[in-house]
Amino acid sequence: MPPICLAPDVMLRFFGLGPSASSTSQRCFRSALPPPSSSSSAYLRSSGARATMAPMSTVDTNKEAAHVREQSHKSSPPQPQVAKRLEKFKTTIFTQMSNLAIKHGAINLGQGFPNFDGPDFVKEEAIQAIIAGKNQYARGFGVPALNSAIADRFKKDTGLEVDPEREVTVTSGCTEAIAATILGLINPGDEVILFAPFYDSYEATLSMAGAKIKSITLHPPDFSIPLDELNAAVTTETRAIFINTPQNPTGKMFTKEELEFIANLCVKHDVLAFSDEVYDKLAFEAEHISLASIPGMWERTVTMNSLGKTFSLTGWKIGWAVAPAHLTWGLRQAHSFLTFATSTPMQWAAAAALRAPESYYEGLRRDYKAKKTILVDGLKDAGFIVYPSSGTYFVMVDHTPFGFPDDISFCEYLIKEVGVVAIPPSVFYLNPDEGKNLVRFTFCKDEGTLRAAVERMKQKLKRNWRRGARQQKQLSGLRGMAWRLSLAMVVVLAFTIWLFSTRNSLVVQDIDVSKLWGTAPSTGWRPSAAPRSFWASPPSNSNGFLRVRCNGGLNQQRSAINPPRDAPLSWYTTFALDKIKKHGAIYLTPFSHRLAEEINVPELQRLRCRVNYHALRFKPHIMKLSHDIVNTLRSQGHFISVHLRFEMDMLAFAGCLDIFTSKEKELLMKYRKENFAPKHLVYKERRLMGKCPLTPEEVGLILRAMGFDNTTRIYLAAGEIFGGERFMKPFRSLFPNLENHNTVMGAEKLEDNARGLVGAAVDYMVCLLSDIFMPTYDGPSNFANNLMGHRLYYGFRTTITPNRRALAPIFVDREAGRAADFEERVRGVMFAGSFGGPRERVHPESFYTNSWPECFCQVSAKRKEDRCPPDNILQVLENRLRNEVKTDGNATKTFLLD
Ligand SMILES: Cc1ncc(COP(=O)(O)O)c(C=O)c1O
Repeated sequence: MPPICLAPDVMLRFFGLGPSASSTSQRCFRSALPPPSSSSSAYLRSSGARATMAPMSTVDTNKEAAHVREQSHKSSPPQPQVAKRLEKFKTTIFTQMSNLAIKHGAINLGQGFPNFDGPDFVKEEAIQAIIAGKNQYARGFGVPALNSAIADRFKKDTGLEVDPEREVTVTSGCTEAIAATILGLINPGDEVILFAPFYDSYEATLSMAGAKIKSITLHPPDFSIPLDELNAAVTTETRAIFINTPQNPTGKMFTKEELEFIANLCVKHDVLAFSDEVYDKLAFEAEHISLASIPGMWERTVTMNSLGKTFSLTGWKIGWAVAPAHLTWGLRQAHSFLTFATSTPMQWAAAAALRAPESYYEGLRRDYKAKKTILVDGLKDAGFIVYPSSGTYFVMVDHTPFGFPDDISFCEYLIKEVGVVAIPPSVFYLNPDEGKNLVRFTFCKDEGTLRAAVERMKQKLKRNWRRGARQQKQLSGLRGMAWRLSLAMVVVLAFTIWLFSTRNSLVVQDIDVSKLWGTAPSTGWRPSAAPRSFWASPPSNSNGFLRVRCNGGLNQQRSAINPPRDAPLSWYTTFALDKIKKHGAIYLTPFSHRLAEEINVPELQRLRCRVNYHALRFKPHIMKLSHDIVNTLRSQGHFISVHLRFEMDMLAFAGCLDIFTSKEKELLMKYRKENFAPKHLVYKERRLMGKCPLTPEEVGLILRAMGFDNTTRIYLAAGEIFGGERFMKPFRSLFPNLENHNTVMGAEKLEDNARGLVGAAVDYMVCLLSDIFMPTYDGPSNFANNLMGHRLYYGFRTTITPNRRALAPIFVDREAGRAADFEERVRGVMFAGSFGGPRERVHPESFYTNSWPECFCQVSAKRKEDRCPPDNILQVLENRLRNEVKTDGNATKTFLLD
């Protein structure tokens, strides 16, 4: 492949001087769908529940029936509709519980809202605000008085001083703070870690954002975090960890050690934290600790809260998010389009509420503690296993002493037979089975209500539980049969899926390849190759300037300028610059690969990025042609570019001869003899070592095994394919939509092709801009290596890098007829790698394929060396240099920015 053509400004940049580049109640009323039937199967989250959701009519008389039939002839009733991303949330478990509660006159200890009113002084403020005419749209991010009150309370609670104007956003309840945070800061495909059981809106909102949810399950009795599991769950794909402390529904409060563990992970992996602290003032057994107050966390945490729980005004829906300005930016963007602003008079009243003296919160806690005691003691007396709850107004219990198979059947029984409503918590888990032994009760009810509920449970539940168990026993015979039938069905289903998957090569279980069309999550990193310090003093054995070693490797490029070894700066600023001016560009061969060898100094690495990526410009007509090709291809959708290095020079160099005819072999050997040093190469060994470029067919097989179907469009960056159509045919049969620069633009457009270089330059740009790039030989290929690094630098663009060594035995087996699990094995190799996000460079990986972390920075970084330099960094450095020269005349010292 040709060397890279550098435009005049490259030289300046090269020297580092150029531009641098529910509550349960909400769940109840959230669904607009008609309620499902009361059979317990309607509670299921699965699509099975959907059938029961269709509107039903109960018709008693023939006349009415005839009328209904007549009407339905005219127009069939509209079916409930919901977008796919919310389909699974169609469950109306809370509505069901409420409906049953009303029907059976049950006492409601399910829904998390107080059955008593908020304080008069707050209500009075709201009335006064309305009378005073504070009734028009409020400022989008909150009325100033409320922003200040929130900032003051936050300071009191956490010790952190926040800017009420830039770091506090008032939202419509904490629910909106959650939505704005997620929608404003999470990209589709980002991984977010939740702790199950979790408040229901997290999962639904994350689904709306297209996030990938990873759930860590907290187990009773203490619901502590399985630290190893959490540690393993955080990867480079993780964008945020979402906590809720004190936690609904468990009442767990995250301990300082747990918060510190989370903080360490967040800092280490540059992960954001979202902390829902709506129950912060309902902490009974421990002191509430805000995650943002843990060292290193403020700059990466969004803390969410609301007025509802603390002031018993859940219907007002006043909430807020406190976050550093750079995160507030994203969440405010979402807030602007979700609700824009929140009820004005209620905000004024909320401001007054938050100025309440400490004694208000003490009284609140005292009252709730008394209520908690009534409930907890009563539940224990009634025979439940009660788990400790440190905060919130919820208590989790284990219902299994009563012999019911799951939480839903127990809650149904509790309503119908005992007259008390509780919440089955399986809906708070990604895997509902994990919550099937548990039940959640709330004590945010007046003491009379709590006592009455407890009495019912103590009397009826105790009296009836044997009956419940007996019923259970009778049922279990039937259930056993049903269970066996279900098992049989599962086996049949699994077999069918297996059959289907073995016959259909496009079923990929491991990774959703459609996600690969997008760029990888940046997790806060962005490219920046700007210098951060002055150059270090030159080593004593150099000529006083940066040593640049350019050793030409591509003997075809005889017209290129070869800088003399250790060329002084003046060589570039005089001789080379003259040539650049004269010709518009010069070739410095091969500049990309050997800027200098083995010098692993971050400042020098950044210089390499400035040269290789930042400054890389082709002549205007090449840039135009490339963009035209990309635009034409993109107008039809996504496309993959494949650097198909199946060319004579490469095959001869690699010594991969056996697949060719004897005539072709002869040609390759001749080329090898003329151009490379003699070496005895055994094809099979070379292949198993991963030294052979992939054949076109192998490329096709890999992409198909990964899940790309035959409609996928592929742009081939390739010279002349050795062996021609004989090798291309199998590839084309797998992927008929193959393009190259000639097929897209027409051959005449590339007529001014200077020794193939225009085509190669155009190919480089198209590969750079394509949605997915796949090299087939990254060995000594500057083209592929530079592209891999360039695409990473250019915004973490997906690159599929086949591990040829790991794939070789799979291909060998296939050729020998052992192809049974071919695709599975290929997927195993392909999905074990990464596709382009920030990832530590691992020796012997080349800096040119992965310049992370040197050439990247973080806007909000904990470590000084990761922090993005200011935009005017060059000016800053120059000023310092001048001052330094003035004071001690030593211009070559190294100064790190602070
Ligand atoms: C953990 C948690 N977060 C958020 C909310 C919603 O708060 P708001 O009513 O302020 O929207 C609730 C309500 O139950 C909750 O339990």
